[in-house]
Amino acid sequence: MAANKSAQQMSIDGDQPPERFIVRESSFGVLDICPPTASIPVINLSLLTSSDLSLSSKEEVQELDKLRLAFSSWGCVQVVNHGISNALLEKVLEISKKFFALPMEEKNRYARAIDNFEGYGGDRIVSEKQVLDWMDRLSLMVFPQDQRKLNYWPKDPKNFGDVLHEYAVKTKLVMDKLLKAMAKSLNVEEDSFAKKFGDRAIMKARFCFYPSCPRPDQVLGLKPHSDRSGLTTILQDTEVEGLHVCKDNQWFGVIPIPYAIFVNLGDQMQILSNGMFKSPLHRVVTNAKTTRRSIAMFNEPEPEEEIGPVHSLIDEKRPRVYKRVKNYANFNFESFQKGQVPLEAMKI
Ligand code: OGA
Ligand code: NI
Repeated sequence: MAANKSAQQMSIDGDQPPERFIVRESSFGVLDICPPTASIPVINLSLLTSSDLSLSSKEEVQELDKLRLAFSSWGCVQVVNHGISNALLEKVLEISKKFFALPMEEKNRYARAIDNFEGYGGDRIVSEKQVLDWMDRLSLMVFPQDQRKLNYWPKDPKNFGDVLHEYAVKTKLVMDKLLKAMAKSLNVEEDSFAKKFGDRAIMKARFCFYPSCPRPDQVLGLKPHSDRSGLTTILQDTEVEGLHVCKDNQWFGVIPIPYAIFVNLGDQMQILSNGMFKSPLHRVVTNAKTTRRSIAMFNEPEPEEEIGPVHSLIDEKRPRVYKRVKNYANFNFESFQKGQVPLEAMKI
């Protein structure tokens, strides 16, 4: 039955996408698979170094301005000079390529259980009416390290675990640097955001595989959503476009920059920043000819940490926009189930 086949298998078999994958105009608007190109600001992370704004060079101040404007309009940036070597990025893309190229029965050794997010599988079904994504994924908890479920970590390719670990450590450094720079760009204490993530901040990895699809005009790789994370990084195939971001109710296509890391702001940072920064809607379209791969890393505050707008970002001119909540992941899921937009439900 097609419903249980992976998107990859359907693509290989040349199947027409089953009914449940077809995007109806009413649910997401017309599917324009080739929107205008997004001019997403490119941030040179190596310029953002001083711990005190008063010590910043002119170049750094300009870069901080760019960062603030980018996250308050687009909600995303492309980061270059991030300190992660091209060699490591290539290895990350390579382990993803090798994993998804394994025979189906081999990948299914890591199959996700129905009620769990971790492991290999397709779109997680939460409602009858859900339009399904033309995408297979492997999701793994990476930090805190004691929460790893190693039975889901592929043993083939052999270096999978080492490469993912190294990439996660380096990604965390990039994110921490960005969190500090973001705080500085708003003129608040530099650890205002970073300290909310806590020592046991969560880092999840999601290896995304979007096989070619015969109906890119009707089927999405990943439906429009905002990330519930604090920050998300996306490492994408350099040659294949597919990621779109929404700004002012219009979709824009992201052109990948080789070896740059795309950073997307998630709901929890919109809350922490009292709405100064935006968690944008984004989606992935399919492509009739080519497979696309990406690796998303989601960094979230530890669930026990109550999150709400940072105090120094609340004043008479800008009153508190959001409530405080513990475990935003649960809140997000529950609001979603009730048919609410989680960020709206968080408003005071
Ligand atoms: C995600 C996501 C985009 C991509 O996994 O949340 O938005 O390019 N991925 O795969
Ligand atoms: Ni996303």
